[in-house]
Amino acid sequence: MPLNSERTTVRTILEKKKKGEKICSVTAYDFPTAQLASAAGIDLILVGDSLGMVMQGRPNTLAVTLEEMIYHTRQVSRAEPVSLVATDMPFGSFHLSERETAANAIRCIKEGGAEAVKVEGGRRRFRVIEAILAAEIPVIGHLGLTPQSVHQLGGFTVQGKQRESAREIYEDALELAKIGVFCLVLESIPLELGKKITENIGVPTIGIGAGPHCDGQILVFQDLVGLTHQYLPKFVRRYADLHTVSLQALEAYVRDIRAGSFPGEAESYHGPSDIDSFFQ
Ligand code: KIV
Repeated sequence: MPLNSERTTVRTILEKKKKGEKICSVTAYDFPTAQLASAAGIDLILVGDSLGMVMQGRPNTLAVTLEEMIYHTRQVSRAEPVSLVATDMPFGSFHLSERETAANAIRCIKEGGAEAVKVEGGRRRFRVIEAILAAEIPVIGHLGLTPQSVHQLGGFTVQGKQRESAREIYEDALELAKIGVFCLVLESIPLELGKKITENIGVPTIGIGAGPHCDGQILVFQDLVGLTHQYLPKFVRRYADLHTVSLQALEAYVRDIRAGSFPGEAESYHGPSDIDSFFQ
């Protein structure tokens, strides 16, 4: 990636909180989406392990591998976006030992071209997050609904609604900031808790279903442009309906082929008019 002064860096993200400027983030799993995100002025692109559900059609993110994350990160970083590129550490890639965690994070940087990694979880992950930071790799924390804990949580449900769980998320947020994460994703928590955390930690919060008081927002690209056509969480705002637009385009294409009107003159090449003589 070019060392371009226009590019968003970890420092830019941190400064945005100080200046009170909102941070705009979106997921991308491929080259064209990364180009779009960059052109739209997105600050932070996350190559999320949500690709397991969005791109692979799985019921959750648990089966996504490190190899797959690196593969998709490479496509995104190849677009040379002005946005900062971060990769999700997939389930199993940071659960066994600090050494293995750091080695896996290093692969995301060296092989994928990521500039930061995201790690889900609070107190049970402090040690591995410190191991990644010790390898000079910037880390994004992720608290609240952590999709990799879906079985333990009993589903994709809003977190931090009870006193105990709200306190745990709040304390983990403060500790993650102390350890050195440069920003923190807060997913599916009450907006009051998102506000309290945002007001009391020195690093930016990036909300997804965490209310308007967070320092920034992130959505899954396919959700916001209306490419996902199944159930959508309450926190998604659809800015387009690309599913319908794409379906209509495909239906028209099928109609035209069947009617013999595609390809037409304009979509065809001409060769020599005496082509029959070639075959005599
Ligand atoms: O995997 C993902 O896409 C995420 C974001 C939605 C925060 O973790």
